Amino acid sequence: MRRGKFITIDGVEGAGKSTQIDFIYNLLKSKGIKLILTREPGGTDLGEKIRELLLGNDIDSMHSDTELLLMFADRNEHIQTKVIPALESGHWVLSDRFTDASYAYQGGGRGLDVKRIAELEKWVLQGFVPDLTFLLDVDIELGMRRIKSRGMKDRIEQETMDFFARVRDSYIQRSQMFPDRIKLIDATKSIENTSQQIKNILLDL
Ligand SMILES: Nc1ncnc2c1ncn2[C@@H]1O[C@H](COP(=O)(O)OP(=O)(O)OP(=O)(O)O)[C@@H](O)[C@H]1O
Ligand SMILES: [Mg+2]
Repeated sequence: MRRGKFITIDGVEGAGKSTQIDFIYNLLKSKGIKLILTREPGGTDLGEKIRELLLGNDIDSMHSDTELLLMFADRNEHIQTKVIPALESGHWVLSDRFTDASYAYQGGGRGLDVKRIAELEKWVLQGFVPDLTFLLDVDIELGMRRIKSRGMKDRIEQETMDFFARVRDSYIQRSQMFPDRIKLIDATKSIENTSQQIKNILLDL
C-alpha cells in the first residue's frame, strides 16, 4: 500500500523545474509533510553512474535503443530501491523528471516507436504511475535563453532545436492524453506566477 504521494515535474531544458522543485519542497515542508527530492536519470548511487553515461560528453555516439534501455534501467533502480520504499514509509517523493521524459525525449525527440516505450514501461513500472505530474511548458527558445549562461552543455542538451521542438510537442500530447494526472503549466511568466499555478493544484491534492 502506498501511503505517501508521488509527484513528478517535467518539461524541456530551462522550463524552471529545479526552481519550482525548491518551491514545492518548501511549501510541502511547511505543511508538515515528510518529503524526499530525487531525480532522473539518477537519484540512486547506481543511477548517478548511469546518468554520467547518458549525459556525459565522453561518449559521442549511443544507439537510441541503448539510451532508452539505460533510462529504464536507471528508472528500475530508482523506483525499486528509493521511490517505492520511501512512499511505503509514508514519505512523499518529488522527482525531477520521470517516465514522461522517456516518451518525450526518446519517443518524440529520437523518434523511437512509442509502443516499444510502452512495453518497457509496462515491464519496469508494472502500473506504477505518479499521483501528479507538473508539466512546465515554455517554448524552447525561452527555455534555452534561460539556461544560456550555464557552462558546458550535456550530451542531450547539444541536440538541435528541431529535436527539442519534438520533445515539447510530445510532452504536450501526453498531458492531453492524461489530463487528470499531468497538469500543463504555463511556465513562460514569472517564477512567482508559475509557483502560484502549482500551489493552487497542490492545495487540492
Ligand atoms: N519563470 C521564470 N522566469 C524567468 N526565469 C526563470 C523562471 N523560472 C526559472 N528561471 C530561471 O531560469 C533558469 C533555469 O531554471 P531551472 O534551472 O529551474 O530550469 P530547469 O527546468 O531545471 O532546467 P534544466 O532542464 O536544465 O534542469 C534559472 O536561472 C532560473 O532562475
Ligand atoms: Mg533543473
